[in-house]
Amino acid sequence: MNTPTLPPLPCYLNGEYTLLPDARVSVMDRGFIFGDGVYEVVPVYGRCLFRFEQHMARLERSLAELRIPNPNTRSQWGAIIQRLVSDYARSTGADPEKLDQMVYLQITRGVALREHAMLPGLTPTVFVMTNTMKQPSEAQRRDGASCVTAEDFRWQKAHIKSTSLLGSVMARQISVDAEADETILFRDGMLSEAAASNVWIVKDGELLGPPRDHLVLEGIRYALFEEICQTHGIPMALRRISRAEVLAADEVLLSSATKEVLPVTRIDGQPVGDGRPGPVYAQLYAGYQAAKLQARLRRPSP
Ligand SMILES: Cc1ncc(COP(=O)(O)O)c(C=O)c1O
Repeated sequence: MNTPTLPPLPCYLNGEYTLLPDARVSVMDRGFIFGDGVYEVVPVYGRCLFRFEQHMARLERSLAELRIPNPNTRSQWGAIIQRLVSDYARSTGADPEKLDQMVYLQITRGVALREHAMLPGLTPTVFVMTNTMKQPSEAQRRDGASCVTAEDFRWQKAHIKSTSLLGSVMARQISVDAEADETILFRDGMLSEAAASNVWIVKDGELLGPPRDHLVLEGIRYALFEEICQTHGIPMALRRISRAEVLAADEVLLSSATKEVLPVTRIDGQPVGDGRPGPVYAQLYAGYQAAKLQARLRRPSP
């Protein structure tokens, strides 16, 4: 048995700035007992909170679904995140302008004796931490990722960014066991998403993604891809996509805050298209980097 020692990374817990090994919550926190909470992961490039307003809007939607009051205004969230981002850069001695970080924030319903119902009036538990962003490797960008497929056995409220993540944990482990990078999920033969990313296909130059509904977490990259596609004249549509269409696609892509956009070149051991990252991936990746640069030029963010 082995309990890893936590690194002394700066974090925020219920109004206090502290270090990860010192942060403590009650065993009766409903996040611990039920996974009764929500979270967000905000990418930060050189102190610029990328798509902050969109992340906050999704957080507000997730909280509203679970009837958990939002303990902070957007500007309060922004101030907490900025402080942690600076503390982290200072603690590593890195130049904050050159540091890419990811900020994780979590809100649970709070502490109470165990009772399934959504007990009203509790004080939410608020936790925020940051670390260096773990980005895809050079090899993954150059050669593409390999994925396996599985039935989507998760619950039917995937649009809530909930800390109840056992379905995602089990889905991701399928790819770990197969020495692959991600698990692409199908519900009744139709594409939903992957364990921790959205999935896109390209056919005859058109970018296709599953609809924004309860079966997927709408990644912040949905709207970003719409913008990039519009700028670059790439046709794009959201609709149900069958397993056969995924396997016959010219390109398959993953997207998430940390992966940004990543080509998939192998699925269940078979090549996707010609087995190389494709032209639409290249355009989306370039558009993504341009959007990051633009966001940094438009600073200050909150
Ligand atoms: C299940 C799932 N779908 C999609 C995404 C992508 O969301 P975003 O692009 O906002 O990171 C994630 C991100 O973690 C996820 O866990």
